[in-house]
Amino acid sequence: MKLIVIGRLHGRIDNITINFEKIMVLKTVEWKDNSVIMIDQTKLPNILEYVTYTDFNQVADAIRTLVVRGAPAIGVSGAFGLALATLQCKTNEKEDLISYLENARKILFETRPTAVNLAWGLDKIMQVANAGNSVGEIRNNVIESAKKMAEDDVQINMTMGKNGSKLFNDNDTIMTHCNAGALATVGYGTALGVIRATRDSGKNIKVIATETRPIQQGSRLTAFELKHDGIDVSLIPDTAVGYSMANGLVDKIVVGADRILRTGHVYNKIGTYQVATMAKQHNIPFYVAAPLSTFDMKSDPQDIIIEQRKASEVTGIGDKKTAPDGISVINPAFDMTPPELISGIITEKGIAKPSFEDSIKKLFEAN
Ligand code: MRU
Repeated sequence: MKLIVIGRLHGRIDNITINFEKIMVLKTVEWKDNSVIMIDQTKLPNILEYVTYTDFNQVADAIRTLVVRGAPAIGVSGAFGLALATLQCKTNEKEDLISYLENARKILFETRPTAVNLAWGLDKIMQVANAGNSVGEIRNNVIESAKKMAEDDVQINMTMGKNGSKLFNDNDTIMTHCNAGALATVGYGTALGVIRATRDSGKNIKVIATETRPIQQGSRLTAFELKHDGIDVSLIPDTAVGYSMANGLVDKIVVGADRILRTGHVYNKIGTYQVATMAKQHNIPFYVAAPLSTFDMKSDPQDIIIEQRKASEVTGIGDKKTAPDGISVINPAFDMTPPELISGIITEKGIAKPSFEDSIKKLFEAN
């Protein structure tokens, strides 16, 4: 995201004043002075506020309450949570530190079940910790590895963006769902990274962003990011997806993913399946953009836990109640899009095409 801010900022976006002498590019999550700094995404787009954490339990809470969200961003946040845990544990014994980290890993892991990047980030850091010989070495290696994971995320997204940009033409209107942007990653984004790279390759593009009920990642975050990047974006209610496609307003679709199986089954924000089904009905290419860290090569569809979230997300919008008291609610956070609805999966290693099982395997072999 090219939104430029000055250090700590708290105020209405409309009132942002930019000091051009000390500019920096906004990062979703960052390690600084032995603490984790994040944008509080629950407050966007009205308030841009950073939170600073020094306790892994605070990071776990932030993931649970969507202060930070989006598969790659929670993967890196989990890694930073473990980095904090190495500093919190006051011991000189490796064994004690490892068991403290195992407990922190469990607490962080249990925050959100569907995005595989969280387990991926935690496991990578636990491997680093287990390989260390002393407490000092483990602390240093864990912190450095988590920082490297954050840096790599941006590079991977940029490469993925470049790979995906070849699929889009001049004057395309691209639909996206939820937020798979800079705010869902450390920076640049997956699906929005592809959109950014397409625009930066000189093509004139427009974007249609779905509102994405119930938490409105589309209107609060995607519309916010793209508008600030100067990309032509129109917001639609989720219920206008079919209308937009039937009336020729959409050329292609690109979304992110929380988990992709070796078979090409894609788990992403609730409503993705509806968008993909509608795209098939109207013969519109439907693409998914995700790094290899989003692939789960071991599980089958019946193994995947779909996160169910609280009823109040559906019975109100913000603080305003929009449903009768005591109403029964079904509020799954994700759904599964089957491979037959997907035209291609864009990764940093190339684009997987149907049939996905062979194509995905080749991407991993090339890795
Ligand atoms: O519930 P969220 O906001 O964490 O859901 C996020 C999504 O579904 C994204 O599309 C996905 O994580 C990909 S982010 C690059």
